[in-house]
Amino acid sequence: MTEHLTLVDHPLVQHKLSLMRERTTSTNSFRRLLREISHLLAYEVTRNLPMTTRTIDTPLCPMDAPVIEGKKLALVSILRAGNGLLDGVLDLVPAARVGFIGLYRDEETLQPVQYYSKLPEHLEDRLVIAVDPMLATGNSSAAAVDLIKAAGATNIRFLCLLAAPEGIARMKEAHPDVPIVTAAVDERLNEQGYIVPGLGDAGDRMFGTK
Ligand code: URA
Repeated sequence: MTEHLTLVDHPLVQHKLSLMRERTTSTNSFRRLLREISHLLAYEVTRNLPMTTRTIDTPLCPMDAPVIEGKKLALVSILRAGNGLLDGVLDLVPAARVGFIGLYRDEETLQPVQYYSKLPEHLEDRLVIAVDPMLATGNSSAAAVDLIKAAGATNIRFLCLLAAPEGIARMKEAHPDVPIVTAAVDERLNEQGYIVPGLGDAGDRMFGTK
């Protein structure tokens, strides 16, 4: 993946995203739509994985069949909203290793603070896909990628649903080697750090909290 930003403007993705944005969309529908979009985004973020062949026997004859090269992928969910994207990506890549990173925002410094990290082994040999639906300020995304790199990963992609220009700029500055795949780039952030027009708090909408 060479582009720093890939916008997945497929009609199905855009239509489902519009339904998710609507204030009146129920928790149930929001979760289902996120899972469906995750499948389409997973297709895009894995599009150019390196391939090799393995000799297999079909019922008729042997053949050199294409398979994905290298160790299993690793997915890293940035808690808690990342889990909504994670489930859908795992539907398509069920053998992936999975890690979790928990960050909260310090009220005074507004900087991300780590409260949890559990990552798979041998990240240096794997493609790592970090998932978080909302790339807002980019501070927690950049901090999560710092942790993934500190664990040895050198081949990382960042998958989100919505991005703000500020978050993209922050990630580009901190991690120019990490391509971003998103369904949309919105206008801006508001004073509270929400993406506008956005869809609200992704975690709250996904889990029915407030
Ligand atoms: N996180 C969210 O859930 N929503 C936003 O708009 C920004 C960050």
